[in-house]
Amino acid sequence: MKFLLDAIYVTLFLFTIVAVLKIILLKNIVYKKPEFLSDKKILTVYYSHRSNTKSVAQNLHSIVGGDLKEVKLIEKYPNNIFKMSKLVRQQMKEGHLPQTEKIDISGYDIIFVGFPIWGFSVSLPMKSFLKNNNFENKTIIPFFTCSGGVSKRKVVKEIEAFTNSKEIIDPLFMFENGIFLIKEQITKWLNKIC
Ligand SMILES: Cc1cc2nc3c(=O)[nH]c(=O)nc-3n(C[C@H](O)[C@H](O)[C@H](O)COP(=O)(O)O)c2cc1C
Repeated sequence: MKFLLDAIYVTLFLFTIVAVLKIILLKNIVYKKPEFLSDKKILTVYYSHRSNTKSVAQNLHSIVGGDLKEVKLIEKYPNNIFKMSKLVRQQMKEGHLPQTEKIDISGYDIIFVGFPIWGFSVSLPMKSFLKNNNFENKTIIPFFTCSGGVSKRKVVKEIEAFTNSKEIIDPLFMFENGIFLIKEQITKWLNKIC
């Protein structure tokens, strides 16, 4: 029994050392912008209620460059999570999209679009932003955060339904409790989609 416990402690210790070393080494890596983005006008636009998506957006922006903009609500949701969830459920039931501040996307070729998942769907403020902008001749590259999971295919279909973009790329998604080594995850995904 004692031998087994010792073995577990040693394994945990080694795992911790490896994880710490990985984080230290990764800090020195320069995350390079993929070639296919080099001559493009890029916008990263995101909606974030509690800042998980914001954190991914900021890291993505630091790699791909271009501009970073936040989708802001005209009327904010209540801070209380129960009141907020109740209001979101009601809006989803009624097909209501909250009004958002205007963002000019006309000068961009590639738009990275980030949002949290609400009720197994694209969150309402992002739907509102997508619906109210013209994505003709623009490539949409979605990324989203969630707590449980959702079908990427469903998310892409929703974006298709809300925009006139002819090109929507395979999204990046991150679980809210898996948002670490963000730049490494983003770089892997960027290399996959290009
Ligand atoms: C109203 C509401 C509904 C949500 N519904 C889902 C869901 O259906 N599936 C899921 O995986 N996560 C769901 N979540 C969790 C969020 O997607 C997750 O916490 C996300 O990372 C939050 O991003 P943010 O910090 O950028 O707002 C929901 C969160 C809220 C507030």
